Amino acid sequence: MSARKGLILAGGTGSRLWPITQGLSKQLMPIYDKPMIYYPLSVLMLTGIREIGIITTPQDQAQFQNLLGDGTQWGVQITWLVQESPDGLAQAYLIAEEFLDGAPSAMVLGDNIFFGHGLPELLASADAQMDGGTVFGYRVADPERYGVVGMDHDGRVTQIIEKPDVPPSNYAVTGLYFLDGSAPDRARAITPSARGELEIVTLLESYLTEGALTVETMGRGYAWLDTGTHASLLDAANFVRTLQSRQGMQTGCPEEIAHGAGWIDDAQLSVLADRYAKTEYGAYLRGLL
Ligand code: G1P
Repeated sequence: MSARKGLILAGGTGSRLWPITQGLSKQLMPIYDKPMIYYPLSVLMLTGIREIGIITTPQDQAQFQNLLGDGTQWGVQITWLVQESPDGLAQAYLIAEEFLDGAPSAMVLGDNIFFGHGLPELLASADAQMDGGTVFGYRVADPERYGVVGMDHDGRVTQIIEKPDVPPSNYAVTGLYFLDGSAPDRARAITPSARGELEIVTLLESYLTEGALTVETMGRGYAWLDTGTHASLLDAANFVRTLQSRQGMQTGCPEEIAHGAGWIDDAQLSVLADRYAKTEYGAYLRGLL
């Protein structure tokens, strides 16, 4: 088990997906057979993290609670936190300061989906680093839509820029941030950007200037899927469906991870499988027993 605490940022207005997100939080929308938030939650659980703070808007929180409860069904402990207005990703560390209580953290954005052979090992190595920060770079065709890392000839990171007009590389910074216990203090010291937000890249810069930021690249064997547009949302669902039906294995399945880690026993898994008895998901859980 990790000493690190987990954070999922699931706030925001989802305005890029309107009208479908006008009545329902983006992170509750389906990615094929599961709500979107299952996938980032699974990443934290795969890291071995059992204390998880979930940040939502005030109005969406009750729906998230209906879905996830307090986490005990999966052997984790969920603390519910609120972001009153979407004032930037780095604000999450201020909202979560009390919950983190000085602990190192892994924050994942509630709309980021990761898949890859070797992901557990990559997460374990980031988890093992208690000082400084680790982020993950992923090659994309459209870096201008993301935070982007600039690198020198030796592959060392020299800069991180949010949505640059002229991207210094094709490597986007994914929405998964392993930061040490100093993140809330650093978040307090940064000033809002021109668009009025506490930018995550500004927080990462504070680590970078001290030589305390590691950028791991996720190579071509990984999928980092975006759910930011209607088309990419459907692509993500199709990816999950294709993979799961071909392999007969789930991706982003909290029950499976909890059971595999020994956080829930056979009897507890059986109760969860019964709950979904009418679905293939339930049959899959039953098959794990
Ligand atoms: C945010 C971050 C950006 C990061 C991206 C990953 O952008 O600001 O640095 O690359 O998440 O999903 P947003 O999706 O909020 O525009």
